[in-house]
Amino acid sequence: KKVSVIGAGNVGASLAQMIVQSAIADVVLFDIADGIPQGKALDISEACPLWGSSSSILGTNDYSHTENSDVIVITAGFPRKPGMSRDDLLHANAKVVSDVVENTARLSPNAVIIVVTNPMDVMAQVSLKVSGFDSRKVIGMGGVLDSARFRTFVAWELSVSPEDVEALVLGGHGDLMVPMPRFTTVKGIPITELLSKDRIDALVERTRHGGAEIVSLLKTGSAYYAPAAATYQMVKAILFDEKRMLPCSAYLDGKYKTNGIYTGVPVILGSGGGEKIIEIELNEQESIDFEKSVAAVKLLVSKLNS
Ligand code: NAI
Repeated sequence: KKVSVIGAGNVGASLAQMIVQSAIADVVLFDIADGIPQGKALDISEACPLWGSSSSILGTNDYSHTENSDVIVITAGFPRKPGMSRDDLLHANAKVVSDVVENTARLSPNAVIIVVTNPMDVMAQVSLKVSGFDSRKVIGMGGVLDSARFRTFVAWELSVSPEDVEALVLGGHGDLMVPMPRFTTVKGIPITELLSKDRIDALVERTRHGGAEIVSLLKTGSAYYAPAAATYQMVKAILFDEKRMLPCSAYLDGKYKTNGIYTGVPVILGSGGGEKIIEIELNEQESIDFEKSVAAVKLLVSKLNS
């Protein structure tokens, strides 16, 4: 199995490390910066004897090395700085992502593309268009991370293991994302049974701004350990055809009363990519919130096209 990670920055290099350390695939780590992917790949290679891993990693500035990848992960582009929203990255990152997809898709026509670069839902749409791939083969990472953040905050609030908490976050991967308390459970018990509405609202708010919270602490960049771990889970589900149901950004063509746009919904992830979108019935408030979130993604898409 072969995974190409495009962008050897914080998220890309952390993801490459996880894949190689767990030996689930060989990795090609690409970046335009000369020396960075080569240096990081060499460093990771030298950890392999200690990890007991026989996976290989190649750092490169040459796209031809990505040929015949099973999965291409796009983490190339600019991250946020304090005070910036993900949307401020729109034009600069659209250029980067177009360039990356143009150079990788033709070399790996059967790959599944996972888009991480922000604003992610829009970048997924750009990737779909430039690649010409089937929409199931282009999927965005956002919901797995947002749900992991929600799970963490719920676990802390209730003093339970985060492993025992399941959560669902729908909608675009932005400040208007839609955490779903009704479908957020501790061993199957909805948190609506365990916590007051005020406390749930506070956890929902913290989740919505979970990325910004880290940006404001780091000051020099944005989160990458949890983003890499979330992407890793998606890569693994695809490589091993796990059929995991994970919240991912998928191209909606009619489901959730939404057409022609990427947004976060539960998706079955397997070797075919986002093989199936699971449609759940939203209540009135959830529908309103979901539509608002979709409208924000649509606005960005139209900004990009104007
Ligand atoms: P970073 O700045 O550490 O790394 C980005 C890398 O992209 C740099 O090494 C840079 O040289 C490279 N790059 C720039 N232009 C390129 C091009 N044309 N081709 C190839 N490589 C290029 O940034 P970090 O922290 O790794 O974040 C990467 C992206 O992922 C950002 O846009 C960030 O907002 C996004 N992100 C998305 C998350 C999500 O949940 N979807 C979570 C975390 C980050």
